[in-house]
Amino acid sequence: MSAEIFDGRVFSEKIYKSLKARVQKLKARGIVPGLAIFSTKGSLAAESFVRSKMKDSGKIGIVCRSVQVSSLGGSKNYARAIEATLKDKNIHALILLKPLPDGADIEQLESLIGPEKDAEGLSPAHFGRFFSARDFDEIKEKRLIVPATALAIAEILKGLKFPFKGKKALVIGRSNIVGNPAAHLLTMMDLTVTLAHSKTRNLRREVGESDIVVSAVGSPHLIKGSWIKRGALVIDAGTSAVKGKLTGDVDFDGALKKAAWITPVPGGVGPVTTACLLRNVVFLSERAFQK
Ligand SMILES: NC(=O)c1ccc[n+]([C@@H]2O[C@H](COP(=O)([O-])OP(=O)(O)OC[C@H]3O[C@@H](n4cnc5c(N)ncnc54)[C@H](OP(=O)(O)O)[C@@H]3O)[C@@H](O)[C@H]2O)c1
Repeated sequence: MSAEIFDGRVFSEKIYKSLKARVQKLKARGIVPGLAIFSTKGSLAAESFVRSKMKDSGKIGIVCRSVQVSSLGGSKNYARAIEATLKDKNIHALILLKPLPDGADIEQLESLIGPEKDAEGLSPAHFGRFFSARDFDEIKEKRLIVPATALAIAEILKGLKFPFKGKKALVIGRSNIVGNPAAHLLTMMDLTVTLAHSKTRNLRREVGESDIVVSAVGSPHLIKGSWIKRGALVIDAGTSAVKGKLTGDVDFDGALKKAAWITPVPGGVGPVTTACLLRNVVFLSERAFQK
């Protein structure tokens, strides 16, 4: 048995098709959605993130601006640059990409971004609204701003012909940006979810008992292929740089022999995350002109 390999680039085209139509409507009213990404120089994962966002933004008509923060020096200058961008009427959404430069105060900088321009859905207003939603349909209908990687994981699961209702899912990683919201979305989708983290006692056993494994750790090859339950669905959101190459959390070759479906790194969760993030940008742009 060899697992089917999920193609995130093909999958994300479906999302872009509907986004293009929305962007066209905005442009007809003279509005061009704008995104600003603040990133730190020298991180391979961050560079790849910015490149993919710039490329895909251009494809659907969003203007994407990259701000390299190491050149700004110090938290104060960083804060000033964020504040100036927040006042810019051509920018409707903003992302602060981690890692931030040494000495930067993440919480203080993140708190500068209000919900109006928060593309990542991490501000308390978006996060609270998301966690109070009744079900997945409400998220779609109300166009809630949800952390993009978590939403990408849910969209992938929905898009595959894999019967998931009532099944056992393991989400590894409990950050607010990926693991925690992914576990919440999967619970809303009627899976029975276990949330694992660095203090989980027997990760191997948890993996082996799960029909769906979602990994969001950032530890290359943490999950061995032999751990995977036969016929499972494996969604690998982890990205680490190993000898200059992006690598996931799962031993891909090993998992291929056991799983029914697997997402590769790169080319799996990443492109769908980009599409979900740009959807947030379009939603924020639409909201800015609905008031
Ligand atoms: N594909 C994409 O588009 C995309 C987007 C965003 C992030 N990512 C990737 O997703 C990964 C996670 O990102 P993040 O921001 O959520 O990272 P994070 O904030 O560092 O969280 C990592 C999580 O993994 C857990 N963990 C660490 N070691 C573990 C172990 N040995 N066993 C089980 N759990 C362990 C941590 O547990 P504790 O809470 O106990 O410390 C933590 O909850 C990274 O590789 C990142 O690059 C990918």
